Amino acid sequence: MDFDTVIINGLIVTASEILPEGLQIGIKDGKIASIGRKLLRSDSSARVIDAAGGYVTPGGIDSHVHIAQDNSPTGDTWETATRSAVAGGTTTVLAFASQKRHEESVLPAVKAYHEKANGQAHCDYGFHLIVSNVTTDILNNELPAVLSSEGITSVKLYMTYEPLKLTDKDLLHVMLACRKLGMTTMIHAENSDMISLVIEGLERNNRTEPFYHAIARPRIAEDEASYRAISLAELVDAPILIVHMSSEKAVQHVRDAQTRLLPIHAETCPHYLFLLSDELRSCHGHDQFHGARNICAPPLRHSISDLEALWRGIANGSFTVWSSDHAPHTYDHPLGKKIGLVNGIPRFSKVPNGVPGLETRLPLLFSQTTACLPSDKARLSLPQFVQLTAANAAKLYGLADRKGAITIGFDADITIWYPQGDPKGQVEIQQKHLHHGVDFTPFEGIKVQNWPRYTILRGEVVWDRDSAGIAGTKGFGQYLKRNKGQIVVGRLGQTAEGMSEGERDFWM
Ligand SMILES: *[C@@H]1O[C@H](CO)[C@@H](O)[C@H](O)[C@H]1NC(C)=O
Ligand SMILES: *[C@@H]1O[C@H](CO)[C@@H](O)[C@H](O)[C@H]1NC(C)=O
Ligand SMILES: *[C@@H]1O[C@H](CO)[C@@H](O)[C@H](O)[C@H]1NC(C)=O
Repeated sequence: MDFDTVIINGLIVTASEILPEGLQIGIKDGKIASIGRKLLRSDSSARVIDAAGGYVTPGGIDSHVHIAQDNSPTGDTWETATRSAVAGGTTTVLAFASQKRHEESVLPAVKAYHEKANGQAHCDYGFHLIVSNVTTDILNNELPAVLSSEGITSVKLYMTYEPLKLTDKDLLHVMLACRKLGMTTMIHAENSDMISLVIEGLERNNRTEPFYHAIARPRIAEDEASYRAISLAELVDAPILIVHMSSEKAVQHVRDAQTRLLPIHAETCPHYLFLLSDELRSCHGHDQFHGARNICAPPLRHSISDLEALWRGIANGSFTVWSSDHAPHTYDHPLGKKIGLVNGIPRFSKVPNGVPGLETRLPLLFSQTTACLPSDKARLSLPQFVQLTAANAAKLYGLADRKGAITIGFDADITIWYPQGDPKGQVEIQQKHLHHGVDFTPFEGIKVQNWPRYTILRGEVVWDRDSAGIAGTKGFGQYLKRNKGQIVVGRLGQTAEGMSEGERDFWM
C-alpha cells in the first residue's frame, strides 16, 4: 500500500507500553493504516514526517472545556479555543451545551451550540449536555433523543451555583435515567449552602478581595459533596465521574469507592497540581485585582501538601482523566473577570469562575513523566500520561472505536514531541506565545521540558511548531457523534453497603 503520510523515527507510546524503536506509522485517508518497519517504498509519494527520536503519543482528548457558553461572553470563540487546542497537542475537545434553568427543553441549547461551533473548529469536538431543569419529559424523551440523534452520551450536573444546582433528588433522577441509557454522568461536587454561608460572612466583614474566594470554598465543601455524590450513585448503582477534584480527602472517598469496585471516576486539572491560593493575592503594579484572574471553582488550595496529595493520586491511578476545565474569561474586560470590580471595589463573589488551560494541559503533564525526569522524580510513566490525556477519556465518553489510541483503523490523531533534551522543546509558558483568545495564562513563567512539535488530526498536520505554527484551517474539525461510554473503573451491579442482594429490585 502507498500511504498518504508516514511518520518515521518516532517512539510510539500506547496506554500500556512504549513500542520498540524503528516502528513507523502509515496513514491513509486520515486513518492509521499500518504500524510497522520499512513502510516507505522507494517510489513512494507519501509525505514523510521525521519524528527524529521524539515520543509519539495519541492526540490529546480534552474532555472538559467550556467554549463560548452564553454565561461567558468574553475570552474564546470556537475558533480561538480549538486553535489553542491543536497548538498544545489536543485533537479532540468535549464542550458543554448548557440548558438554562427556565428552559423546558434541552434541545434549543444543543441547536444553538451547534450553530456556534459549526465551521469554526480546528480540532474535532463533541458536546456534553448540562441539565439544570430536570423534567420527566427530558428524562424520558429528550435524553434518549439527544443520544440517538446527536450522539451526546454524557450529562453534567451541578451541586453548586444558584442557576445550575440540582437537589439530591434531581441528581438521582438524572443518574437513574443515564444509567438506563448507558450515558455518563459528570458531577461538579461542592456543597452550595456551606459556600453561600461563608460568602455571606465574608461580605458582612468586607472581606471581598480576590483571595477570599479561596476561603469561601473550603476543601470540606468539596469533601462533603464528593462523598454525597458517591453515595447517591451507590444508592442507584450508577457510574459517575466527579469533575475537577482538588482535595485529597475527596479523592480518598473516590479511592475507597473504587476499592469496593464501584464505578466512580475522578478528574483533576493542571491548575490544582501547579498553583496555590497565594496566586489570588498577586498584584501587578497598581492593579490590586490581578489575582482575580486565578478565581476558579473549586478554588486553588492553600498548601504544597494539597498539591502533593493530588500528585500521589495521579501516580496511584485514582484519577481517570486529566482535563483542562478551560473556562475562558478575559481579565481586562467589563464583562470578563472585571465584572467583579463593582464601583471600583473588588467583589470576588461576582467574578466569573475559571481559568484557561487547553493549550498548556499536555505539556504541563508531559514534563512530569519519565520522559522528562529521572524515574525517582517523575510523577508518572508515559503510558499513564496516555491514559490520562487521551485513552481513558475516549473510553469513558464513547470514542474508543476511533480515538485515543495509536492503533490500526483509528483516526490518525497524533502528537509528536521534540526529541528529549532538544532545547526547542524547553519552553517557558508565556501568554504572548499562546493561541487562545484570553488575555492571560495562570501558568505564566512555568517552564516545561517539552512541547508538541507536530499535531496531526485525521492525518493532516494542523500544528507545526517550527514552521507554519497553526497549519490547519478552521472548519476542518468535525462534530463527533459519540457512542455510549464504557465504565473504566469498577463495574455495575455492586450491592450497596448495608443492602441485601436484589433489594433495589423492590423500588428501582
Ligand atoms: C422547568 O421546566 C418546566 C416545564 O417543563 C417549567 O414549567 C419550569 O418553569 C422550569 N423551571 C424553571 C425554574 O424555570
Ligand atoms: C464595610 O464597609 C462599609 C462601607 O464602607 C462600612 O459602612 C461598614 O462599616 C464596613 N463593615 C465592616 C464590618 O467593616
Ligand atoms: C492514592 O492517592 C490518593 C490521593 O492522594 C490517596 O487518597 C489514596 O490513599 C492513595 N491510595 C493508595 C492505594 O495509595
